[in-house]
Amino acid sequence: MMKSNVELLVAQDPDEQAAWAARVVLEAARETVGGFSLALSGGSTPQRFHQQLAHLDRETMPWDRVIIFFSDERAVGPDHPDSNYRMARETLLSAAPIAPNHIHRILAERDDLGEVARDYEATLRERTNGSGELDLIVLGMGPDGHTASLFPSHPQPPSGRLVVATPMSPTAPLTARVTMTYEAIAKAKRVLFLVSGADKATRLEEVLQQRGDLPVQRVLSDRTRPTIIIADEFASAALTNRRQPS
Ligand code: 6PG
Repeated sequence: MMKSNVELLVAQDPDEQAAWAARVVLEAARETVGGFSLALSGGSTPQRFHQQLAHLDRETMPWDRVIIFFSDERAVGPDHPDSNYRMARETLLSAAPIAPNHIHRILAERDDLGEVARDYEATLRERTNGSGELDLIVLGMGPDGHTASLFPSHPQPPSGRLVVATPMSPTAPLTARVTMTYEAIAKAKRVLFLVSGADKATRLEEVLQQRGDLPVQRVLSDRTRPTIIIADEFASAALTNRRQPS
């Protein structure tokens, strides 16, 4: 059964999905007083949304207040094809007027990923007045029900941690990673999931029915935060409960 704090929107095409996602970010930024902390994810789905967001001018979007974080990163350098930061730089950060000191990437090219995770957690806390509370985190969903780099087969992150290093991921790209934890996601004031592709259809139906204990379900089972899922037609093919935005 759908939780009341979870709103599901089904977009007809990738442009509509991207436009709705950009609107969610814009509204959240406008509602936020002071710095607006936004965590981005990797994967292919957010790219179009990043591009739409980047088109918003300074009069529309309070870019000077935007502080960028990443939900997760693969253990590669910032110019590597698999880097989430590289994707975000090419689709959003190089085009939007965000101050470089407001962009916090995960330095996952370093050898000691445990230290990288601790440093990133410290940065997250520092930039959020010690709370670690993001204003909005954008997440994706893998066909196996993973989100960020929280995979079903991985050990539960230790409690109290907001960012951790993970073992080799079971799905491509096969790298060790650094990821925000369930606790970090649970602290975020808003969650936006972008889900696309026919390979997610049965999994999306399953997680919304709250069957099993997959990472996406763990995030959705927190009833306290507004959570919006914007799925495309293909990912939502197995669902009966669809809503359009008001
Ligand atoms: C990553 C991601 C990951 C992603 C999903 C969905 O670094 O791989 O953050 O959790 O969001 O795998 O990816 P797609 O948008 O490509 O389906």
